[in-house]
Amino acid sequence: MLDVNKTTGAPPVIRREDYSPPDWLVPDISLDFRLGAERTIVRATLQVRRNGSHRRPLLLNSEVEAIHRVTLNGEPVNYWYEDQVLRVPIEGESATVETEVRIAPRANTQLMGLYESNAMLCTQCEAQGFRRITPFPDRPDVLSRYKLRMSGDKALYPVLLANGDLVASGEGEGGTHWAEWHDPFPKPCYLFAMVAGDLVANRDTFTTMSGRKVDLGIWVRAGDLPKTAHAMASLKAAMKWDEEVYGREYDLDIFNIVAVDDFNFGAMENKGLNIFNSRYVLADPDTATDADYDAIAGVVAHEYFHNWSGDRVTCRDWFQLSLKEGFTVFRDQSFSADMGSHAVKRIEDVKMLRAAQFPEDAGPLAHPVRPDSYIEISNFYTATVYNKGAEVIRMMHTILGPERFRAGTDLYFSRHDGQAVTCEDFVKAMEDASGVDLSHFRLWYSQAGTPRIKARLVNRTEGVHVALEQEVPPTPGQPVKQPMPIPLRIALLDEATGRPTDERLIVLDKASDEIALDGAPARPVLSINRDFSAPVIVETDRSAVDLAFLSAHDDDPFARYEAMQQLMLDTLTAAVSTGGADHAPVIEAVRQTLTDANLDPAFIAEAVLLPSESFIGDRMAVVDPEAIRARREALRADLGRTLEPLWRDAYRAHVANRYAYNPAAKGARRLKTIALGYIAATGAPDAAALAKRQYDESDNMTDRQGALGVLVNGYSAERDAALQAFYERYRTNGLVLDKWFTTQALSTRDDVLDQVEALAGHPDFTLANPNRLRSLVAAFSVNQRAFHDASGRGYRFLADMILAEDKLNPQTAAKLVPPLGRWRRFDEGRAALMRAELERMVATPGLSKDVFEQASKSLA
Ligand code: PHE
Ligand code: ZN
Repeated sequence: MLDVNKTTGAPPVIRREDYSPPDWLVPDISLDFRLGAERTIVRATLQVRRNGSHRRPLLLNSEVEAIHRVTLNGEPVNYWYEDQVLRVPIEGESATVETEVRIAPRANTQLMGLYESNAMLCTQCEAQGFRRITPFPDRPDVLSRYKLRMSGDKALYPVLLANGDLVASGEGEGGTHWAEWHDPFPKPCYLFAMVAGDLVANRDTFTTMSGRKVDLGIWVRAGDLPKTAHAMASLKAAMKWDEEVYGREYDLDIFNIVAVDDFNFGAMENKGLNIFNSRYVLADPDTATDADYDAIAGVVAHEYFHNWSGDRVTCRDWFQLSLKEGFTVFRDQSFSADMGSHAVKRIEDVKMLRAAQFPEDAGPLAHPVRPDSYIEISNFYTATVYNKGAEVIRMMHTILGPERFRAGTDLYFSRHDGQAVTCEDFVKAMEDASGVDLSHFRLWYSQAGTPRIKARLVNRTEGVHVALEQEVPPTPGQPVKQPMPIPLRIALLDEATGRPTDERLIVLDKASDEIALDGAPARPVLSINRDFSAPVIVETDRSAVDLAFLSAHDDDPFARYEAMQQLMLDTLTAAVSTGGADHAPVIEAVRQTLTDANLDPAFIAEAVLLPSESFIGDRMAVVDPEAIRARREALRADLGRTLEPLWRDAYRAHVANRYAYNPAAKGARRLKTIALGYIAATGAPDAAALAKRQYDESDNMTDRQGALGVLVNGYSAERDAALQAFYERYRTNGLVLDKWFTTQALSTRDDVLDQVEALAGHPDFTLANPNRLRSLVAAFSVNQRAFHDASGRGYRFLADMILAEDKLNPQTAAKLVPPLGRWRRFDEGRAALMRAELERMVATPGLSKDVFEQASKSLA
């Protein structure tokens, strides 16, 4: 293995504090590609300029198949290549360096650099894929203007795309053709992209706020063209929204999106040429669910918004990743909220944070939003950097208010346009524009761990106070924490009238504090962390009665949802620890919500769902997967039976709808299938038939997959028939087949492990496609009861999959490791089995540094 510490054998650790500016800048680069799937020849001409006064050579990262030639100012040069770095000694202050190398797209199973997917050639360069294309100082603070020429077989690759503007194209010899693209905006190499393939485009135009016409294209395989309408509508909405909300106008004459089936992440914001995992582009009612439609709108917007928050202003180094990602996630969340329901979007975003980020923050892989060190940067595209990063930006928005926040982003964009900057630069712009001191707030970037707040109302002679305490738990490398500034939106609700008083924002910035609340009613109930104003865990002494009251009356929709969740959680954790609990308060609260005619069905759907098994586990000292499953299913059945007429009403009320895509229709579909789930939970004899009828008669994927998801938990003949029908109908559509795998991996049946192991041997299962791998393996690893089977079979299955995938695609393999790192939260038997799998991985010869980093840190 290259790149290891010669004495310990461990790969090197990169530290934020070691940052130093680049020795050489590359203001201009021109590239010439002779494309072929087996071999592609890449010639690069770099104009380099010494940065500062030093005598050091030019260092180019290079992970190509073969280096054919290197010249300096046109002459052969004595270069040195070692440890994947090419060293070129240069005398003068500037020079022209030319390289010619060979790369092998078809053999590129890592999907980093130039690779082949479905006969198309495409690139992925973030974070460090460009070095797999051509030797280059592969770091985000080296910004260059790119000129590119590519040529290839015209029949195989009729479409040739790259960043920027198409400046020339023509025919070549032997059935080839070529195109030249120039990108006028200097950019780091991680934003470089090109595509060659047999593609067709959904074309449209957008006229910007200053009246410039932009040509838009969404490029897909010929048969997929009808599935691009939603992505196009989302793109145009996002372009408009960014002008209106942030004053950001698009800057090139062309904006292209390409859909690719084999892709490590969701999508990539390459300048003017976004490349997408096809699951975030393609949708029609027959094949995509409402959740898919929402995700497409969110990801299309996210990548488009990066044009300013990422491309025009980029990151100085990879420790600053949240500078672009946290901010851009906040932007896409706000966009989606504006396009639909703010309340439901906020609930979804918090659910996501709790499912993915809270466990990360509570485990061995916890790291600050701005990490201090890494072995492999790909491992830091995490929920902490993305989703907690977005919460950090949102808190600044909350503290400053929308006008001052906008002044801050205006200043940030104008001050740093064309630069590679740090999280500190962002906060500084916010401070300078608003006059608000954020020095203490910076702790949110440096301290890991989810703060825990204890809040209660106390009666003092002067009136009602809220008493607050905070604690930030220790995390790896950070045993002792300072108190954080925590913005909490609070209000008091009057138990007599249900009305709120004294809604306000307080910032808890000490370990403990007590704040007087004016105008408190006689029987006040505390509503706290309204709209989830801070990414923290709040513990209160509110009784079941208080929570039920809030779940029926809180005027803040998030707090209302949260009160219900808390009531359910309290009931379930009590049931798990004592073997049973009083279900009545939950049942009454659900009844109230279900029959509240003023509520939006989409909100009701979220509110009546029980917390997930893993979320219940996260709140327990030692997770007991069997007891959690049993108690949660018991409460589900009780809710189903006691409220059965109401579930049947809700089901009937929405069942006859013809498909339409709008918020009301989406809410109806969601509530209908949740009602179906509760009817099935009663064990009613007609439940399977009802679900099968929904499956057979539905005119859309949301209802079809919803019905399948209900059937798959049972043992009916309808279950097998529906699974079979689904497979037959969609076997040639990869994205839909992924759903077939996922639905089965998430089943609550006791034999799910057998099924998952069998599915891993199914002819349609493959490790080569990251979506397919995740559809089965990642889905299974969040099925808490099945994955944590006391035999350890689930752990072994996951570790086997990781090791197999690691040989092909280390980045995607490493993303599957975290569930095994949660061993501290389980009983000794499970913990030992989980550790044994991690140890087995770490001891595997030839293990990638990606998996090594995740597995070794998970053992610590
Ligand atoms: N930068 C991409 C995004 O969040 C994510 C990504 C990272 C894609 C690395 C590919 C590789 O928008
Ligand atoms: Zn992003």
